[in-house]
Amino acid sequence: MSASEVAAGVTAYWDSRAPHFNGAASHVRTPDLWEEVLAAAFAAGEPKDVVDLGTGTGACALAAAALGHRVRAVDGSAEMLGVAREAARHAMLDVQFVQTLIAEAPLEPASADIVTIRNVLWTLERPAEALEVARRILRQGGRIVVSDGLWSAAPENRSDYAAELARLLPFHAGLTEADARDLLTEAGFTDTTAWQHLFRTPPYPGDVPVFVLSAVKR
Ligand SMILES: C[S@@+](CC[C@H](N)C(=O)[O-])C[C@H]1O[C@@H](n2cnc3c(N)ncnc32)[C@H](O)[C@@H]1O
Repeated sequence: MSASEVAAGVTAYWDSRAPHFNGAASHVRTPDLWEEVLAAAFAAGEPKDVVDLGTGTGACALAAAALGHRVRAVDGSAEMLGVAREAARHAMLDVQFVQTLIAEAPLEPASADIVTIRNVLWTLERPAEALEVARRILRQGGRIVVSDGLWSAAPENRSDYAAELARLLPFHAGLTEADARDLLTEAGFTDTTAWQHLFRTPPYPGDVPVFVLSAVKR
């Protein structure tokens, strides 16, 4: 399978899941929990330029906009973005959504103070490439906020990608905090800090080990 076939397979999967994705989603059940933890991880005293990579139905983008930031958000799936746009409209939040693959995102270098990427690294064939994009679009001193989990710990939270697609994704079983720290360091980020201890209740069912890490572009 070529890289573009992998991306097309992933996009088609999320297009088909979009109508039901928000049904039991953690950010819909407990939006305040996520807003609190993301606010701490952002460590932003004033409105910032935020980009959400792989925004899906807009969880991080909407939380960032609710915190008063200027938000752009990209995703490959038109259907996921349709749900995100409707959620933003309903919440009267201003987010600029763009349908594009992360690797092809038309985002100016050094145009963001904060980049979020939640629950996306596990579904990428080349997760390091997404972190390179994040690094390129961040300003000096900007921060990336990465969240993901070890999804194999709770089968009910796992994707049901076709086997030939799943085996091309290096973190299809999910990521540990240590995996993410290594990826961030390899991508040139520093000052990696964990925030998941701030969740007052576990954000996902099934005791999935999850992390929220921030790191800085020096
Ligand atoms: C598990 S969902 C997470 C959505 C959202 N970040 C959240 O935390 O709820 C993964 C999302 O990543 C998107 N995605 C996966 N690979 C992508 C790529 N290469 N470029 C853009 N979006 C991608 C999918 O379309 C999907 O919406």
